[in-house]
Amino acid sequence: MEAWFIIVVSACVCVIVRAIFSLQTKTINTPPGPLHIPILTSIQWLLKSFSQREPILRNLHAKFGPIVTIRIGSQPAIFIANGTLAHQALVQNGSLFSDRPKALATAKIITTHQHNINSASYGATWRTLRRNLTSQILHHSRIKSFSGIRNWVLHTLLTHLKSHSHSNNSVRVIDHFQYSMFCLLVFMCFGERLDDGKVRDIERVQRQMVVRLKSFNILNFWPRVTRVLFRKLWEELLRLRKEQEDVLAPVIRARKQKRKQGKNEGVVSYVDTLLDLQWPEEKRKLNEEEIVTLCNEFLNAGTDTTSTVLQWIMANLVKYPHEQERVVDEIREVLGEREEREVKEEELQKLPYLKAVILEGLRRHPPGHFVLPHAVSEDVVFNDYLVPKNGTVNFMVAEMGWDPKVWEDPMAFKPERFMNDEGFDITGSKEIKMMPFGAGRRICPGYNLALLHLEYFVANLVWNFEWKAPEGGDVDLSEKQELTVVWEDPMAFKPERFMNDEGFDITGSKEIKMMPFGAGRRICPGYNLALLHLEYFVANLVWNFEWKAPEGGDVDLSEKQELTVVMKYPLQVHLSPRI
Ligand code: HEM
Repeated sequence: MEAWFIIVVSACVCVIVRAIFSLQTKTINTPPGPLHIPILTSIQWLLKSFSQREPILRNLHAKFGPIVTIRIGSQPAIFIANGTLAHQALVQNGSLFSDRPKALATAKIITTHQHNINSASYGATWRTLRRNLTSQILHHSRIKSFSGIRNWVLHTLLTHLKSHSHSNNSVRVIDHFQYSMFCLLVFMCFGERLDDGKVRDIERVQRQMVVRLKSFNILNFWPRVTRVLFRKLWEELLRLRKEQEDVLAPVIRARKQKRKQGKNEGVVSYVDTLLDLQWPEEKRKLNEEEIVTLCNEFLNAGTDTTSTVLQWIMANLVKYPHEQERVVDEIREVLGEREEREVKEEELQKLPYLKAVILEGLRRHPPGHFVLPHAVSEDVVFNDYLVPKNGTVNFMVAEMGWDPKVWEDPMAFKPERFMNDEGFDITGSKEIKMMPFGAGRRICPGYNLALLHLEYFVANLVWNFEWKAPEGGDVDLSEKQELTVVWEDPMAFKPERFMNDEGFDITGSKEIKMMPFGAGRRICPGYNLALLHLEYFVANLVWNFEWKAPEGGDVDLSEKQELTVVMKYPLQVHLSPRI
């Protein structure tokens, strides 16, 4: 055989073997993302609030596409900003994408080591708890059994609002909404109407934990060290948790006692179902601490979320009075000339425009701009990228609902877009156009209850009152992230840093050193006007007065931040009764 022939054949074999070998060992990368500088990038990211992170992520998506990675510590955090990919992950590959990240040190305390629904790993514990909630409490027939309490809470709310409407003062409605939703959930949780003092007590311990949560974050870095360094903070966390137990446990015990004596009052409550439940693997009943954790989750999950959306919807109905009138006209058509001013739950089915208003509210103002972080239980190749099991997978809810490729004029409030014959599938089972409740196996199990609460309350609120902005005013729809508090005043107030010859470019077009108005294509279009207003007023205020703190006092510059995205300036309205 010719030598050249042997050489060519050997070369070909080599190339093929190498190709096969390189195919097998081809490394698959995580989705693209910005340059990662160890430690520095993580610190920079962790120092930012949720509202500061969102515009950064928006810019990264514009640069790298709908799926990006940011490395925080050693762990990659993947962000998905588009409905098609979210559907691919959460629905088509639901069994892979439904895990949760391992709980950090503080979360272990609050969730009793991931023994609640939202934090449990995708497995037997999660399945047992979730099935119990959906089949025992959130099932249609059970939800119906609580209609009496909804009616009572509605009438209490209307009475409070009526007393305000007579006084001619404007009303800060969010406080009333939060309290109403809380009363509803407390009843569903414990099965009885607790006296006002007890409800306020439970509300207090729930809220103080939620409000302090973010300050405990530092305890999640090198917990063994920070627990010693920030001993007071760690003790505060334990104290708040203990206070929760001290307030909730006696109510749970009282219910247990009543059941023993056969005195439970007609309805099956969440606590009843938890007292009967057994852990599948350990074959034991839940202990008191675990029941407290689950009650805590139930009360938190259904209160702030719903009252926040309720406020947004009412704010839009104040801002756009013709939409409000259209809801009222639709109700009038269904109720006719009936004297009684209550829209009953059964009648909500006949109000498609009301439903469209609720959906538009959820699209335009989802109370959480991200779903809870997901995780994969093993390394997964997704869309040609590696999603590693030690990372988190995050879905950008607000971005999907505001996507101009999916929604025409996405930032406008236009309920008509939901007025079509097919109805809208909020679960996203076929396609995801928006996902205020998430999608797939971890979808919010309370979405039916939340929709009922929203429809029932919005219908009755507009049916009983004409909602208007206080005299001559308008409604400010700017957003603010809420539910956690940052105490520190980390940076000194030093205007000199902006005193240089070049001037400072607030649009960040060349580099971003700060971005109070966002940056890039979505930069706040009003930043010039805002700057003019600030300069004009500050100049004249200091020119006219010497500004001092009240006698002996100081000015508290602490910031306040909370969990859900709520109105920055809580809605104040003037209410005039329609009757
Ligand atoms: C407008 C009201 C509500 C909104 C917008 C909302 C939204 C959400 C979202 C986005 C998630 C995370 C989904 C995910 O991780 O993929 C979630 C989870 C959850 N929600 Fe809701 N929710 C609302 C009301 C409620 C109510 C009324 C309840 C129960 C009484 C509830 C109970 C839960 C629970 C237990 C989870 C954890 C689910 C799991 O991890 O399997 N939510 N919710």
